[in-house]
Amino acid sequence: MHVNLDLKVLYFGTPVVLIGTRNADGSANLAPMSSAWWLKQSCMIGMGNRSKTTENLLRERECVLNLASADMAAAVDRLAPLTGTFPVPQAKAAKGYRYEADKFGAAGLTPQASELVGAPRVAECPIQLECVVDAVHTFAETASAVEVRVVRAHVEERLVIPGTDHVDPVGWDPLIMKFCEFFGRGEYVHPSRLAEAWRMPHQGLTPTG
Ligand SMILES: Cc1cc2nc3c(=O)[nH]c(=O)nc-3n(C[C@H](O)[C@H](O)[C@H](O)COP(=O)(O)O)c2cc1C
Repeated sequence: MHVNLDLKVLYFGTPVVLIGTRNADGSANLAPMSSAWWLKQSCMIGMGNRSKTTENLLRERECVLNLASADMAAAVDRLAPLTGTFPVPQAKAAKGYRYEADKFGAAGLTPQASELVGAPRVAECPIQLECVVDAVHTFAETASAVEVRVVRAHVEERLVIPGTDHVDPVGWDPLIMKFCEFFGRGEYVHPSRLAEAWRMPHQGLTPTG
């Protein structure tokens, strides 16, 4: 039996991407996002227009999509309440966001220079995709769907199927954001400040492992 719901959130479960962009002063910004889908060598990323990331994408026309693995949930969660925008937009401040200039330091992650773009890679991410922006579309009134194309892919050696240009799907364990909560291998792995900020009604979840 099905019931009709006025569903508040449609984030059914998508991989977490740490998107690296370059600020106007040349410094690095890093933000977690999970509205990303892939076709051929391109990716469509959905970002709110008030984020520093969107501002940087529109100006610099490039980014790095760093794919987070499930064991990076704590670092991703440390980034969750932060923005590179100063002053913090009112709607974000009301949700508890604060400004942070050094996102890498705050997350405990290591910036790594890219080869073709000015945006930073995240050394801890096993898959890092350097991208250029091909097009920007208005989306859901206050957001942008940014169409990017991968121009260089970096994959940790242990995840490569030997002798091929393919990732081993068994070895790769993506961090999944499901209804604002963190999952890996189908299991709840870490409490989520995003779920807290959104006042999600999830109760009594206990991380496994
Ligand atoms: C797991 C996770 C997934 C997120 N996914 C998105 C997303 O797909 N699109 C988006 O606009 N914001 C998303 N956010 C919120 C942004 O990370 C947040 O707006 C952040 O402040 C952006 O940083 P910036 O302003 O420095 O770019 C997500 C946050 C978390 C923790």
